[in-house]
Amino acid sequence: MIKSTIHPSCIRMPSTAISANRIAKLTARERARFAAARPRSAALSARNAEHLLFGVPLHWMSDWGTPFALHVAEARGAQLTDVDGHRLVDFCLGDTGAMFGHSPAPVVAALQAQAARGLTTMLASEDASAVGELLAARFGLPRWQFAMTATDANRFLLRWLRAVTQRRVLLVFNGCYHGTVDDVFVDLVAGQPVQRPSLLGQVHDLTQTTRVVEFNDLAALEAALAPGDVACVLAEPVMTNIGMVLPEPGFWPAAAELIRRHGSLLVLDETHTISSGPGGYARAEGLAPDALVLGKPLGGGMPCAAYGFTAELAARCEAAKRAAPPGHSGIGTTLTANLLAMAAMRATLSTLMTEAVYQPMLALAGQLADGLRGAIARHGLPWCVSQVGARAEFQFCARPPRNGSEAAAAMDDALEHLLHLALLNRGVLITPFHNMMLVCPETTAADVERLVQAFDAVLAELTST
Ligand SMILES: Cc1ncc(COP(=O)(O)O)c(C=O)c1O
Repeated sequence: MIKSTIHPSCIRMPSTAISANRIAKLTARERARFAAARPRSAALSARNAEHLLFGVPLHWMSDWGTPFALHVAEARGAQLTDVDGHRLVDFCLGDTGAMFGHSPAPVVAALQAQAARGLTTMLASEDASAVGELLAARFGLPRWQFAMTATDANRFLLRWLRAVTQRRVLLVFNGCYHGTVDDVFVDLVAGQPVQRPSLLGQVHDLTQTTRVVEFNDLAALEAALAPGDVACVLAEPVMTNIGMVLPEPGFWPAAAELIRRHGSLLVLDETHTISSGPGGYARAEGLAPDALVLGKPLGGGMPCAAYGFTAELAARCEAAKRAAPPGHSGIGTTLTANLLAMAAMRATLSTLMTEAVYQPMLALAGQLADGLRGAIARHGLPWCVSQVGARAEFQFCARPPRNGSEAAAAMDDALEHLLHLALLNRGVLITPFHNMMLVCPETTAADVERLVQAFDAVLAELTST
């Protein structure tokens, strides 16, 4: 899928473990099975073709491995029902937007209460005070601003940090994803920075202001920081968008020290790693970023995002804005921090982002990861499974990758599509980008067992002689 693709020359080679022929044959069968069982989805896809680009409201939706777009009738808790009446256990959960389950009751109640009292005013409400306090207590950063999406939060933060440091360069890790922030789409290809060729309509040479190094490579990080022109390092604490790449022991403390020594700032994007626990990965691991980004599940499924600053950085941001000429900062959007969004975040932070909600999710994700490992071992495949809190990922390589290049080299589009489609046809949905699965508060042990059994059955077919 487009989101995580880095460079065509270095990724998505067919897996050596399973023949391309077998993958193609099983894929044809699964596509036929999907199509035969979904006349309503097929009819809606045909109808959409007239008025929607690619027949879908967001063109990514045509990148699932399905012959035509799956249309949803209803989503509740850990379940989806499609328009043809099939019930699916949802481990995609809107690619993390619904990490606390579909339509969580406290968020629905808060939205219902707020909806009758105003949706958007471009004014603060009492919820803003509560949300600010909750974020500060939960994440240990004292000052916050909001956005509607994690993409925007990253984009805005980048503006603030370039302004306060008066430095132009952004440093990212190869294979990263931080939303559709143009600046991050620079890959390392044979050691050289290359602007992602798939970007549409990009007229700037992003390699002029974005530097890219491999994750877990402290020497490369230090060399990239050495010129003293890096405004900030923007990173997920665990890479989750090129498959999963875990930090090696000691990587983050050493990286943080280098970043500070070179006068740069560390931004941790916890949009996905918020799956680690109610304070995110940084809190759980004792990391101390200068700024933090949260999005996706922060509003329980409503479009909301937030970014937080240390007191020192917040003071620098305020000073930069005061010192700037009057006029537009280039940061913000009209509907940001609207009344509905603030109500959703307050409900999510106070009732869902709690230890009590997370603990069973983490335990079930552990069972899921173990179950997948068992199936992989039973079928003798050289694949591995990684876990970050409520999120697990299987990858087509024998040991967890150390960096984006290794993770990309383990990808296999055709095999991925087949697995996703075959699981869908067996009643379980996983994220269409790479092989990510997420557990929500309503996911049950039986749901996990169902996924593991379906996975096992598909692997049996893939490997049968
Ligand atoms: C780490 C990270 N940051 C930011 C984003 C962007 O989120 P959104 O698409 O909601 O703007 C994503 C989306 O996958 C993400 O994984």
